[in-house]
Amino acid sequence: MTGEPDTHSTRFEPPRGMRDFYPGEMEKRNAIFDAWIGAARQFGFAQYDACVVESLDLLRRKGGEEIVEQIYTFTDKSGRELALRPEMTPSLARMIAARQGALAFPLKWFAIPQCFRYERMSRGRKREHFQWNLDIVGEPSVAAEAEVLACAFRALDLMGLAPDVRVHYSSRALLSDLMLKLGIPRQEHAAAFLALDKRGKVDDAEISSLLLAGGMDAARAGAVFDILKIATLDDAVRLLGERTPSAQALESLSSLLDAHGLAGRARFDIGVVRGLGYYTGIVFEAFDLDRKFRAIFGGGRYDRLLQDVGGSAMTAVGLGFGDVVVGELLEDKGRLSAISRRADLAVGYMEDAQQEAAIRVASAFRRSGQCVDMSVRSEKAKAFFGRVGKGGARQAVYIGPDDVAKGEIRLKNLDDRSEHIRKMDALPG
Ligand code: HAM
Repeated sequence: MTGEPDTHSTRFEPPRGMRDFYPGEMEKRNAIFDAWIGAARQFGFAQYDACVVESLDLLRRKGGEEIVEQIYTFTDKSGRELALRPEMTPSLARMIAARQGALAFPLKWFAIPQCFRYERMSRGRKREHFQWNLDIVGEPSVAAEAEVLACAFRALDLMGLAPDVRVHYSSRALLSDLMLKLGIPRQEHAAAFLALDKRGKVDDAEISSLLLAGGMDAARAGAVFDILKIATLDDAVRLLGERTPSAQALESLSSLLDAHGLAGRARFDIGVVRGLGYYTGIVFEAFDLDRKFRAIFGGGRYDRLLQDVGGSAMTAVGLGFGDVVVGELLEDKGRLSAISRRADLAVGYMEDAQQEAAIRVASAFRRSGQCVDMSVRSEKAKAFFGRVGKGGARQAVYIGPDDVAKGEIRLKNLDDRSEHIRKMDALPG
């Protein structure tokens, strides 16, 4: 060893699609988590969690869903086939099935799992993301859909984004009714849902070949495209010739969303199908109004998943709301600084002789519940204010020998530069 820097050393980067969170990014992540947790608590959802490593068997499903192709898998030293979860819903179903006899239903649970998907990288898509999950298990009425949607909008509200987002909803049950009406047998529906979810990502010719590959003939594939031209729920009812339970459920959802104060924030959109195989009823996706970004959140009703993981049949509704797209929207709308946490107060001092006085001041404010960023070394006023003035804190106190002699502090508001003098022996705490 010569002690010289090794010019050939390798610089490591995070693996492609994975993120590091330096304090700046962490602040943004925490602001998003705070809104999620705050909204979930306001709506009475209980938090749960599970390990990021799952059995591959739980996640593997038949049916050609993209998500199954994207699973990160590995084998442990005992030869078990394991995976990093790509989503939380199968783990939730597994946990509920394990205690189905003991839990009280309907239950409202939330979690913020980190999920991993080997995605083709694009805007809004990473290979790892945090995803707020809100689920209501054991409630068949659309009150459950309305509740999870209202809670998601509450979180958007806390981020200052609610006016910028609209949820588009439809129903796989309605689509099934329409397909049956047009002579498409039920066994072709599942493949049709997955093909239709690709709309917008691939062209219609490709969707058509996917439909044909799923077993449909050309006439039926044409009928599917006719269904997609339906603009309103009334048009769908007209085509069906009756108000089927699937159509009635969508009407009720619209009324309940109005009651939640979300009139104008949600609209029927026959084109929303979702790419996960387990949805059986109402499905929804939320987008920014300008449609600049990918889906902010998505979800729906899944009536068979509990059974599929060994539980008893039970209906469920839920949504997943990722941190990546909403983070992009927050930046785009300039909302980040407003929702990020800042220290209430920064305390600095000129010379070591004022260190103890400064510590006493910081301690008093901390005892009163304030968040105080205390300097750990003496510094010049210019250096202190230069550092903390850049959005680091709301207020600042800089203590010099004169302040200690007078027993006073000057509390400076860093937003409007106003100053208040306080006696050191009459501080809060
Ligand atoms: P999903 O639509 O696959 O649904 O994902 C939900 C949300 O997670 C998306 O709208 C997006 O915000 C975010 N997301 C998904 N993949 C990525 C990615 N690669 N990079 C960044 N963000 C991503 C589900 O996962 C369902 N399990 C949701 C659910 C819960 N349904 C019922 N309960």
